[in-house]
Amino acid sequence: MRRKLAAGNWKMNGTAASLSEVEALIAAHPSPGVEILLCPPATLVGRLAALKGQHSLMVGGQDCHAKASGAHTGDVAAAQLADAGATHVIVGHSERRADHGESDEAVADKARAAWSAGLVAVICLGETLAEREAGRTLEVVGRQLDASVPEGATGLNTVVAYEPVWAIGTGLTPTSEQIAEVHDFLRSRLSARLGADAAHVRLLYGGSVKASNAAEIFAIPEVDGALVGGASLRAADFSPIVKALE
Ligand code: G3P
Repeated sequence: MRRKLAAGNWKMNGTAASLSEVEALIAAHPSPGVEILLCPPATLVGRLAALKGQHSLMVGGQDCHAKASGAHTGDVAAAQLADAGATHVIVGHSERRADHGESDEAVADKARAAWSAGLVAVICLGETLAEREAGRTLEVVGRQLDASVPEGATGLNTVVAYEPVWAIGTGLTPTSEQIAEVHDFLRSRLSARLGADAAHVRLLYGGSVKASNAAEIFAIPEVDGALVGGASLRAADFSPIVKALE
């Protein structure tokens, strides 16, 4: 069975003072019944990894370069994240696709770089509002899945996060039926490509997940957890989401 995963993406938020929120989260979940992953900004990966000690909380980066090292000012390599204590890295978040022009192929290269460094790639995809309104949601996420998730993906090295762009940070969420439709589609598309391995790849939902809607979203059969942005910044907001998943 796939283990449930509550993942937090702090985006470009947080300083050393924010680590008190991690302490509070750990105190609220000394022995969590689900996996918890926090992806702070790169500046905090090492400190968060040191702070969590033996707790099962996992730490991830928010992006990595496709190359292992070299002249890429301002970028971070997957191996550097691993060296700082990360076990995961988000790749292909829609904010990076939009702000940095990352193509599906670039995202696949980053996922392979993550694997090479021993990291789990959390590969994000999702349609824009215009694409949904044009009835192109499944076509878009299907293309993103095929081109962003490299051959060789397994449940051990890959998590896929469905994040409709229009639901991110807006307070809007798709209906349960809409989420179920996309997750069912992604599962069968993955099965067609990966065979038996697809059954082990976790599919997260992301986009305005909060305490008040988490239980409904987690009741959808193919939803294996969430990738949470704003509501992952404070333990008081994230802890109820973790509890809803347990
Ligand atoms: O990666 C998480 C994300 O984009 C969702 O953000 O703030 O809508 O939960 P938010």
